[in-house]
Amino acid sequence: MKFPDTNYNPPFNITRASHLTLTVKDLGRSKEFYTEVFGLVVSDEDSETIFLRGVEEVAHHSLVLHKTVDAPRCQSIGMRVQFDEDLDRAKAHFDGEGIRSEWIEVPFQARTLRFHDCAGTPVDLVARMETRQRLLGQSRLHKGGAVLRLDHYQLHTPDPHEASIYYSNLGFRCSDYNVGGTPERITGAFMSRKDNPHDIVYIRGRGPALHHFAYAIMESSHIFRACDAAAQLGFGQTVERGPQRHGLDHMLYVYFRDPDGHRAEIFIMPIQLIDLEEPPHEWGTIGTLEQPWGRPAPRSWFFETTPFENVELSPRLEEWEPMTLEKSLGL
Ligand SMILES: [Fe+2]
Repeated sequence: MKFPDTNYNPPFNITRASHLTLTVKDLGRSKEFYTEVFGLVVSDEDSETIFLRGVEEVAHHSLVLHKTVDAPRCQSIGMRVQFDEDLDRAKAHFDGEGIRSEWIEVPFQARTLRFHDCAGTPVDLVARMETRQRLLGQSRLHKGGAVLRLDHYQLHTPDPHEASIYYSNLGFRCSDYNVGGTPERITGAFMSRKDNPHDIVYIRGRGPALHHFAYAIMESSHIFRACDAAAQLGFGQTVERGPQRHGLDHMLYVYFRDPDGHRAEIFIMPIQLIDLEEPPHEWGTIGTLEQPWGRPAPRSWFFETTPFENVELSPRLEEWEPMTLEKSLGL
């Protein structure tokens, strides 16, 4: 099955995945996890909210944590647009398409436009943020994985095929996709605006829901520094999958579940993807075929996600049985 063509003249110019907001039960414990294990840096904080950035990032925040007494949720994912005028183009596009969008106020961000994509995921578009010092060269300040920058989101939706068409129309390029079912449909899509395989990934599942967000690191040893820091602080059992190597973008990774169960990935540089002669790569059913060595992912990795705040989840999908860690061990 051919992947939808990319619209190389999109209605507005998204440049990259840039920031997300999560709600958490215990702000202090989450701060400890993200600063000591991931190595994120606090840009600003008060008793209700913490704004964090990677050591390479000058933009004020890539992860925002809000304290909640309710079930932990993702409030929104964020994307950068190139210019402030792109926000007006985006607003005109959504109005023309009958898609609800609204201007919202977010501290430390310039004008911000929130819309809900075809899957129902809340997406915040912004052109500018306040800046802080880049700490990449200040190695004495680096902790845990010393993550560099936010790279991508992976989300679940019942219909990744629809999401593939939607984001292709917004200028996203596909590196890899999964197909399955009868008639055949796209069941997973890795799509990007920047120069690597992913800003946003949609996989078939109950949604919309956040499967994980991912930070890039400088060198592979930082994966083990993060795991060791986790162990020393009582977060050792939060390592859910890996360290291992992805097949699709050939990178080393590890997945953690943070104190609220939100899934966050650390990975080392994926392949570069700029030249246009390489077509999207078609894969079969999502599962172990993308993993070159080691045991498959645990069942939790396939089915557990973070819902979005005030967004209704789809009904539960019919069961599918991926090759899980539990199954491979005969459990
Ligand atoms: Fe990922």
